[in-house]
Amino acid sequence: MEIKTAVIGGTGVYDPGILLEIRDEQVSTPYGDVELKIGKHQGRLVAFMNRHGEGHSIPPNMVNYRANIDALKRLGVKNILATAAVGSLNLLMQPGHLVFVDQFLDFTKFRQQTFFDGGSAGVVHTDMTDPYCPELRGILSQAAQNQGLTYHNGGVYVCTEGPRFETAAEIKMYRMLGGDLVGMTGVPEASLAREAEICYATIAMVTNFAAGISSDRLSHQEVVDTMIQNGENIRKLLLQAIAWTDDDRACACHSNS
Ligand code: HPA
Repeated sequence: MEIKTAVIGGTGVYDPGILLEIRDEQVSTPYGDVELKIGKHQGRLVAFMNRHGEGHSIPPNMVNYRANIDALKRLGVKNILATAAVGSLNLLMQPGHLVFVDQFLDFTKFRQQTFFDGGSAGVVHTDMTDPYCPELRGILSQAAQNQGLTYHNGGVYVCTEGPRFETAAEIKMYRMLGGDLVGMTGVPEASLAREAEICYATIAMVTNFAAGISSDRLSHQEVVDTMIQNGENIRKLLLQAIAWTDDDRACACHSNS
């Protein structure tokens, strides 16, 4: 049986226990080996990957994004549902709300951004007009509605290099540029998935108002605590979305040229 859907669990979503018959799998890629789990949901095989590794040991700026996405591509995955903890710049997007982001602004600095480094990989300029799959976002919105969760279908995700949080002035600038949310892992994960012709959607959970929007100091513990408090909602949403995703549908994301 093929594996068409994958979950990338971010901060606070470490448990593949939502799946049945879980087994470990190691996938070798030219970028490094990747450990993941494979389990079943409603008769379908689903891959589960911890973005930050075992015990949250890999910071956002050190994640091997190319190996992770390439490993899923090698398994035959067509749909990725990624979770992400985010700070909010938008007063309407409040802690505890879900946002199915539709755009990103990339402020990362030192990451390997592409599979197309020239040479045998070729020179490819991938369309990035819609980095997040509109169909998967639609499914997530329906699932969230069905479960009575507060959600926003659309939002601009600002990706910073991290691992530090932002200054209040940086957040003010991102807000002026049209950002709604800020996080440290969305890019190049989303853009690599697009290069790999895999449908990709982010389930962003607002864990805090960003620096200077709230006068409180930020802590990673606060982010983890909010994710854990809302973990059950995210798990239920993931299961519903996996069940509602048609593995064999055609989608514009499956062609990057
Ligand atoms: N900034 C960056 N990343 C984050 C934040 C934040 O405020 N909250 C959760 N992830």
